[in-house]
Formats: sequence, C-alpha cells, structure tokens
Amino acid sequence: MTTAAIIGGGVIGGGWAARFLLNGWDVRVFDPDPEAERKIGEVLANARRSLPGLSDVPLPPEGKLSFHTDLAEAVKGVAWIQESVPERLDLKLKVYRSIQEACDPQAILGSSTSGFKPSELQEGALRPGQIVVTHPFNPVYLLPLIELVTTPENSPEMIERAKEIMRGLGQFPLHVRKEIDAHIADRFLEAVWREALWLVKDGIATTEEIDEAIRMGFGIRWAQMGLFETYRVAGGEAGMKHFMAQFGPCLSWPWTKLMDVPEFTDELVDLIAGQSDAQSGHHTIRELERIRDNNLVGMMRALKAQNWGAGAVLNRHDAALKPKALPDLDSADLSQPILTLSRAVPLDWTDYNGHMTESKYLEAFANATDRFMEIIGCDADYIASGGSYFTAETHIRHLDEAHAGARIRVETQMLLGQGKKLHLFHRMYEGDKLLATGESFLLHVSLETRKPCAPSPKIEAAMARIAEAQAGLPYPEGAGSAIRKPA
Ligand SMILES: NC(=O)c1ccc[n+]([C@@H]2O[C@H](COP(=O)([O-])OP(=O)(O)OC[C@H]3O[C@@H](n4cnc5c(N)ncnc54)[C@H](O)[C@@H]3O)[C@@H](O)[C@H]2O)c1
Repeated sequence: MTTAAIIGGGVIGGGWAARFLLNGWDVRVFDPDPEAERKIGEVLANARRSLPGLSDVPLPPEGKLSFHTDLAEAVKGVAWIQESVPERLDLKLKVYRSIQEACDPQAILGSSTSGFKPSELQEGALRPGQIVVTHPFNPVYLLPLIELVTTPENSPEMIERAKEIMRGLGQFPLHVRKEIDAHIADRFLEAVWREALWLVKDGIATTEEIDEAIRMGFGIRWAQMGLFETYRVAGGEAGMKHFMAQFGPCLSWPWTKLMDVPEFTDELVDLIAGQSDAQSGHHTIRELERIRDNNLVGMMRALKAQNWGAGAVLNRHDAALKPKALPDLDSADLSQPILTLSRAVPLDWTDYNGHMTESKYLEAFANATDRFMEIIGCDADYIASGGSYFTAETHIRHLDEAHAGARIRVETQMLLGQGKKLHLFHRMYEGDKLLATGESFLLHVSLETRKPCAPSPKIEAAMARIAEAQAGLPYPEGAGSAIRKPA
C-alpha cells in the first residue's frame, strides 16, 4: 500500500486527500486546525458519491485515513507529500524545512500553490530537487488537470515518477515549459476575472448576468475544445489564419481593460458580494458543491462517451485499472455465477428519489450481458466477423436501493446456452445485499441476414463448459417469474 501525506487539509488539501484515498492510497493528514477532520470528512463524503462512479470499472479499495498532530510522524516514509497550506511564501518555506528534516529524500514534495514559482519554493531548501509545483483545480477529486511546474533542480527521473503517480490517480499532469507566476490557467482566469470586475463596477452586467454569459455559451464550448480549437472551428473552412485576420485587430480596439485592476473599495466588494448573495444566497455552499459535482460528473461522462478531452483521460484511467477488474473464461470459477460487472453507481444514474433510477438497472444488466458475451467469445472481433446476440426478452426485479457511489457488482448464472439460445440470470449486489435480479433471453443472429443462427463452434464450446460447471447450481428464485395479474 502506498502512502501520501497531506500537509494543510483545507479546501484543496481535503480534495487531494479524497483523490488519493479513493484511488487506494493510505493518507496521513497534518493540519493544526481542530476543525480539519470534520472539514475533510465533508469533502470526502462529496468525493465518495461523485468520483468512483466516473469510472466504468472499480477503483482500488479505499485507503486508510489518519490524522496526525506531529508533522514529522505524518511525512515519515511516505512516497508523496502534498503541501496545501495558505498561500504565503514564508509559511510554505518554513513548512518545507520541517518536512524535509523528517521525510524520505526520494519522496516527491508537491505544492498546490496557485501563484508561486517552483524556484521560489526551492530557495534555501534542504533538498531543492525534491520540490515541484503540482497545482490542482477545485474540486481536486473530480477535475483531472494538474499543472506540474519544475526547475532544472528536479531530475528527469523524479519528474517522470511524479507524472506516473498523477496519472495513476486519474489526473492529467500538464508539464509547464517555463516557470511563471500563477502558471498557465490562473493567469488566464485572472484576466477573465479582472474584466468581469470592470463589467460589474461599470454597471454593464450583474454577477448573475456574467455567469449566464459564460454558462449559456462559451463556457460549454471551452469545456470540450478549449480556446484555440474552438477558434479554429469559428474561422470556418479558412481556419485559424482567417480567424486571426478577422478578429485580431479587435484586440487593439478599446474593448478591453485587461491591464487595469479596479480598485477594491468597500463599495465594489459590497456591490459584488451583494449581487452574489442575490444570485446564489438561497443555496448553502455544500449544496452548491453538490450541484457543481453533479454537473461536472454529467459533463465528464458525456465527454467520456466521445473519448474527448477530460473524458479521454477518464477512459485511459479505466483502461489502466481494467485488467484487475473482471475474470475471463479461464480465470473465473465457472462452477459459480461469474462476475460480469463491478463498478460504482455514477451520480448521473440517480434520480429524484435519491437512488439508482429504473432504466439504469437495465443498463447495468446489459453491460453484464455484454461482458458475458465477451467471456464466451462473442467479442468485438467476432461481432465484426458477422455474428452477435440480440436480446429478445428481459425481466428485472427491484429488491433494494442503491445510492450514488455505492460499489455494485453483477454475478451471472447461465440458465441455458445451447445452439442459438442464451438465457442468463444476473444478480446485482452491494456487498451482501441483493439489490436486483435481471433475466435476459438472447438469440444468436447473423448480422448479415438479421436472422437467428448457430454461433461459432468456439462459442458453443465455451457455453458447454459453463453449462457443465454450473449444472449443480440451484435454479434461481425469481427466474421465469412474471408480473402477477391483479386479483
Ligand atoms: N482554493 C482554491 O481554489 C485553490 C486552487 C488551487 C490551489 N490552491 C492553493 O492551495 C493552497 C491552499 O489553499 P486552500 O484554498 O485549501 O486554503 P484553506 O485556507 O482552505 O486551507 C489551508 C489549510 O492549511 C492549514 N494550515 C495553516 N498553517 C499550516 C501549517 N503550518 N501546517 C499545516 N497546515 C496548515 C489551515 O488550517 C487550513 O486548513 C494555497 O497554496 C492555494 O494557492 C487553492
């Protein structure tokens, strides 16, 4: 088991703690705030309902969380130390001295700093080469981007190791080529923020109108293509050169106040805070966090289906986890129902009743059927060669509730697998709790004629193996049942 130390467990440290824990790391937290444990508990609760379901395969078992009052004890022997103390250079440098006196010289010491350059953080350090900037984005447990900023003091081997670890956590390390104050993303965000402050101060727009201008339009575009790819498309067939020629000159028109910062008078702060209260004050911060997480999960899973942007990062993480997840024909104990699905319930599978919605049971059982087909040899290559199974009938019984983040699994008993017929009985569990059963009757078809036909001899043989091995299993209760007619 690998261990990380989280130094400073506020908004960002709490998010890092959740990211490590849910990816199977043990986590030690050091934070002098007596409220840190409660605050991290709340972040962790949000992370547990949203992060595991982003994957279509199970994350490793959750690691162990411990809180420490002694910094040296927290960092001793760990592989990764993530510093997320307040953004004050003197404080960070002091904390590094205490960390480096006690930690393994091979450990990676990442700083969450939004603004400081790594060379500033390394100054006067015991081992400068151990310190890098690993700048995350809130919520750290969901957003993949980490700006990795290094200096020549950091060895290429250590930088590679840092990237590997971050990828293992499902993150996307963006190695910044040159260190610069506030890295890449925050410089960008500050420019946008400055312009927004002017728009409010000058009475052009309220905080709510500015947010609408972002989220109804270009914000959605940015989430999937960023700035330059979006503009390339906007240039039409003539592309980027045309776009630059058309819109570039506007940059020197008096549209922008980017270089000036409005003075932060009490009046301006009250104006913005007041508008923000009017806009969002009817939600608590925890409610807003949950709304944000629901939306992020929905968008990221949509991008996942397109294998694009943040969704492609999720797919790569799944692919790295997959080999450990499900057994195949040779590794499964065929005398028992076979594990055909193992995952967490994603947030976007839940409904207004706060539990997994009806149609998603069918999706989960359909995924289990797909996996069973793969196990018997009806995989993507076989389907491309012209044979497949079509579902003729399904019957689902809903027996208990499942909530977002719950780890569910499906075990599949083959009731019949002979010739063109395949009859499966799936049981869905959370731990020992039986949540639902799903029965499916499928027919093997030729994709050319769209008519039933016998499968390949290899599939017939695999089905025969399973039939023989599962022959001793009792016929399941609930199989073959139908909805009772009203009396
Ligand atoms: N909030 C963001 O959106 C965001 C995003 C990315 C990066 N960051 C960076 O993350 C860092 C932390 O920011 P935050 O928003 O989590 O702040 P925060 O105030 O929520 O948390 C800071 C935590 O550090 C603890 N702390 C103070 N002194 C400490 C010490 N000597 N040792 C250990 N812990 C100590 C505090 O008790 C607090 O819990 C900053 O460097 C910030 O620039 C913040």
